[in-house]
Amino acid sequence: MEPSDKYMFKHRGFYFVQDLATPENIDSLENFEMRDSDVFLVTFPKSGTIWTQNILSLIYHEGHRNGTEDIDLLDRVPWLEYNIRKVDYVNRPSPRLFASHLHYCLMPKELKNGRGKIIYVARNPKDVLVSYFHFSKVSQVLEDVEDFEVIMEKFLAGKVIGNLWLDHVEGWSAQKDNQNILFLMYEEMKKDLKGSVIKICNFLGKRLTEEEIDDVVDKASFGKMSVDRRANYTTMPSDLLDFSKGRFLRKGTIGDWKNTMTVAQNERFDSVFKKRIEKLPIKFCWDIN
Ligand code: A3P
Repeated sequence: MEPSDKYMFKHRGFYFVQDLATPENIDSLENFEMRDSDVFLVTFPKSGTIWTQNILSLIYHEGHRNGTEDIDLLDRVPWLEYNIRKVDYVNRPSPRLFASHLHYCLMPKELKNGRGKIIYVARNPKDVLVSYFHFSKVSQVLEDVEDFEVIMEKFLAGKVIGNLWLDHVEGWSAQKDNQNILFLMYEEMKKDLKGSVIKICNFLGKRLTEEEIDDVVDKASFGKMSVDRRANYTTMPSDLLDFSKGRFLRKGTIGDWKNTMTVAQNERFDSVFKKRIEKLPIKFCWDIN
């Protein structure tokens, strides 16, 4: 294990949340036994994970859709690398839904060989950074950095959970021709949620009626999720999240970075990120400026 700090430990060059995972557990994932029906939602932190977790839960579970089951997202779509609720992955009925922030290189071998399906959601990294900044106050397991400039420099250096955003997106987008991966953008989900839900259903081979799709869209809206305890993480242990400091569903908008970053900070961000973003094999539907 490489040197760690109070909040994160580093293993094989990647940072993980202290106490929620171990190096042995991370290494064991390489040989994680997959099923063809497994679905993995992969994101860089703060890119719309909880939103897509909820959409998946609403698509797969009628009881989540019609409100007859009170099972929250952490149990519906548990984290591959952070098994917070100690879910029994091996005996879990199919189809198993997982969330993960792992870089491609750390994913199970069988997944790389084409087993299971993956939905990758990306978001404008400037909005990701601003969201991370605010979330670090709510989170009890991330360092709460008061000064935005300090967290920005850590983000640009990849010294945050998820590491360097560019590496994460680059590693995954190199798989863009892989039939088992659907790439989505947070911004496209915001602009056309119904279209995105239909895309997800088609990709997963799930046939929902028009009414059911409308129901998914309705219950995945920011307003509905904000007050749905099954879908807003308020059931998370208080030693992980302190909701007196803010909300998990904070603003849910596109371009909030413009309210936070100064002109100089924006230029600094672009000087580190812009060239590499332009070279990525995936074209993003956000205005990086
Ligand atoms: P903001 O902090 O910008 O509001 P993650 O789940 O990956 O941590 O991402 C959290 C971000 O997704 C937060 O962004 C949160 O508000 C946003 N989000 C969650 N649910 C959403 C929804 N239904 N619609 C739009 N944004 C949503």
